[in-house]
Amino acid sequence: MLPQIERRVSSPRCEPVRSSGRIRLAAFGRGAEKIVSRSTSAEVRYLNKEWKGRPEPPRIGDAESRRAVTHKRRVAIDDVRGQALDLDTSGFILTRHESTLPSFRKREDVVGIYYEEIGRFVRGLSGADRVFVEGHTVRTEDARGFNAAYARYVHCDYSLADNGADRRDIVERRYDQDLGSGTRWEFAWYNTWQPIDFPAHRNPLAVIDARTLDRDDVVDYWYAGPRARPLPARPGKPTDASLSSMPVFNPRQRFCYFPQMRTDEIMVFKQLDTRPDRAPGCPHTSFDIDAPPDAPPRRSIEVRVVCAFAC
Ligand SMILES: [Fe+2]
Repeated sequence: MLPQIERRVSSPRCEPVRSSGRIRLAAFGRGAEKIVSRSTSAEVRYLNKEWKGRPEPPRIGDAESRRAVTHKRRVAIDDVRGQALDLDTSGFILTRHESTLPSFRKREDVVGIYYEEIGRFVRGLSGADRVFVEGHTVRTEDARGFNAAYARYVHCDYSLADNGADRRDIVERRYDQDLGSGTRWEFAWYNTWQPIDFPAHRNPLAVIDARTLDRDDVVDYWYAGPRARPLPARPGKPTDASLSSMPVFNPRQRFCYFPQMRTDEIMVFKQLDTRPDRAPGCPHTSFDIDAPPDAPPRRSIEVRVVCAFAC
């Protein structure tokens, strides 16, 4: 059984960042202060448009199959430090979180300490009644593993389609939890993303603002890479892949990022929400950005957290 995070007051270390975080240049005169935006552009991989409307979802399990169904497209990526964002509208935020864990290399330390921190932290942000930490991924400059390398295509981590799945049943079975018989529950899935070892000078994470995402542009696909979690076997459905989603390009979609994220900063972004009228989720990808030659590699830890809300 996965540890369940009990309701407690959120840690003061998890207070939202109150300053704008903008880079301020030296003043050139009394009172003069210039705010520099690091908005940029980059090539990202999008699902080929012909998959929208096809009856069978595409399948991605490695770099080759990813290239086969996607194409590169240059997009603007906005620096949104200091802008008004929240998890129910834009679907993502930046806040502070300084872990007590000195190293993220030992799985048992991450599971024993970081999961507890993150579970409590997301509970404080979301107001959930119950929180389940699903798992984590540490990503580094080592590109040998499809899952451990930087994410290189615009994707969601779950299917955004209302496919009739009984989310409560999935949550109870996946986390070995009894949610009781007399309560109706809604659920939201959140990701946290935090640089480790160094600030994220390279390969930052970009997310699409959920307010600019048209659900009609989101297409299901089969994720068949490492740690795929197939649903119970169903006739005609793969038994080695989990159903997820990815958008096709639409010029309305707005990519956002937080430049130079520090190791005491954390991005939280929604991946699924059963509650109506809330941000459904933020497709995301890493991207290449100019950095000094001696800038250290990006290393990061991400955690998937499921929140349950009693209604
Ligand atoms: Fe992802």
